[in-house]
Amino acid sequence: MKFDIRKSTLNQSLQGPHDALLVLWPDATAVSGPFAEWVQQARQHGDFKEAAGSVLQSYGMPGIQPRHVVVVACAAAHPKDLRKAIRSAWAALKAVSLKHLSIVWAGSETLGEQGVQALLTELADASYLYASTLSKPQRRTLKQVTLGLPQVRESHRQALAQAQALVHGIELAKEWANRPANHATPSHLADAAKALAKKPGIGCKVLGRREVEKLGMGAFLAVARGAVEPLRFIVLEYKSRKSLAAPVVLVGKGITFDTGGISMKPAAEMDEMKFDMSGAASVLGVFEALANLQPDIHVVGLIPATENMPDGQAIKPGDVVSSMSGQTIEILNTDAEGRLVLCDALTYAERFKPRAVIDIATLTGACVIALGAVRSGLFTSDDVLAADLMAAGQVSEDLCWRMPLDDDYADGLKSRFADVANVGGRAAGSITAAKFLQRFTGKFAWAHLDIAGTAWRSGAAKGATGRPVALLLEYLLATSSKAPRRPGGPR
Ligand code: BES
Ligand code: MN
Ligand code: ZN
Repeated sequence: MKFDIRKSTLNQSLQGPHDALLVLWPDATAVSGPFAEWVQQARQHGDFKEAAGSVLQSYGMPGIQPRHVVVVACAAAHPKDLRKAIRSAWAALKAVSLKHLSIVWAGSETLGEQGVQALLTELADASYLYASTLSKPQRRTLKQVTLGLPQVRESHRQALAQAQALVHGIELAKEWANRPANHATPSHLADAAKALAKKPGIGCKVLGRREVEKLGMGAFLAVARGAVEPLRFIVLEYKSRKSLAAPVVLVGKGITFDTGGISMKPAAEMDEMKFDMSGAASVLGVFEALANLQPDIHVVGLIPATENMPDGQAIKPGDVVSSMSGQTIEILNTDAEGRLVLCDALTYAERFKPRAVIDIATLTGACVIALGAVRSGLFTSDDVLAADLMAAGQVSEDLCWRMPLDDDYADGLKSRFADVANVGGRAAGSITAAKFLQRFTGKFAWAHLDIAGTAWRSGAAKGATGRPVALLLEYLLATSSKAPRRPGGPR
């Protein structure tokens, strides 16, 4: 789907050459003419409400070029109202197989940059269709979206370009997360990363079992022991020609299926554990967006990818393994595998002398209990990183919430047989998981995003959300324009 932006008023759009026109109608409008009168009439009769999402439709109206016109109320120019408006407008339009949709803003105050992004990302989300494993997939016909604004500023164009790249990134992330585990193996993910490396500025290296053994990634290898499907450790790097900056490293959990291993999960909803590589998918999505935007920054992506399976060779509760950092780990629960693959990836991240490391993981059911599907869990002891990530979440409307990391939460991880155990008790499960990871992050500023509640939806609308690609992209673009942090500065 391609976006473009054009200077256009409502009355100009009504004479435009499009099949379908979506008119965003806020409370504050300043349009006149027969069309506006028609809308006002409907409002007076109570047939077109002020609440965001109320819809008024016309077909083949005389004197109007577009055959389909959908007017949708959007109360104000707030991103929330715009998203609601787009959702219901799409419900009215989706039955029409449109190629080109024109959207026009009928408000008297101008639409802001955040509004442009909200509108386009919401439309992309509403019109997304999963296709890859259907024999007769319904495909998205909508190829082109033109946004008409009465005034177009340079910042609108930038917002449009960013929204365009973001949508590509989100859709790549959704695509990989949605694919069933037999169509999204570690090798498939590695191929996807290699395909990204054909784009300018991106490099990719894929390590197999032998290299991972040589690196001493005993924790990652322990999880992969039960799997027949070969593991992959994926390294992506995006660097603009000008950038000399230390990179931000993104680490994505890439468990392509999580059975729990010997500590096996119950059968109900176990299919959803195909989404356990959503962190990895979000890293792929961010790199797709970076390739589109070519910003002047430096980013590394690390993906430890494997299945977590039960097997005669699989790790057993009580087994002790040696991580790449040298710390030994007593694996008391083989279902707490995410932290095991991540801890070795975090140690590997040291070699990039990063300015920050952010891991993204569907790490704990406890995080779903704590924060639900609204906000991702944010864990960091670095106040600057916390503020930057919270702000990026706010701007992109891909929200997160900071959780505590007091050392007392690590008490449950004590072990008599190793340096650390991989699980604590049931209490504060998302925090003890983060405390485990924190032990491997002494050499850099680090944040952890637990996306267990936000990466996919369950139930009838089951599917990946593409989160937190928007948050991460916004963070990377916003912080690149800030002064680099002092080395040895606050952690
Ligand atoms: N991938 C799961 C976390 C998860 C569970 C995400 C349900 C979304 C929905 C993770 O590997 C896991 O199994 N975590 C365990 C940890 C426990 C054994 C300490 C959990 O949350 O139950
Ligand atoms: Mn698990
Ligand atoms: Zn898992």
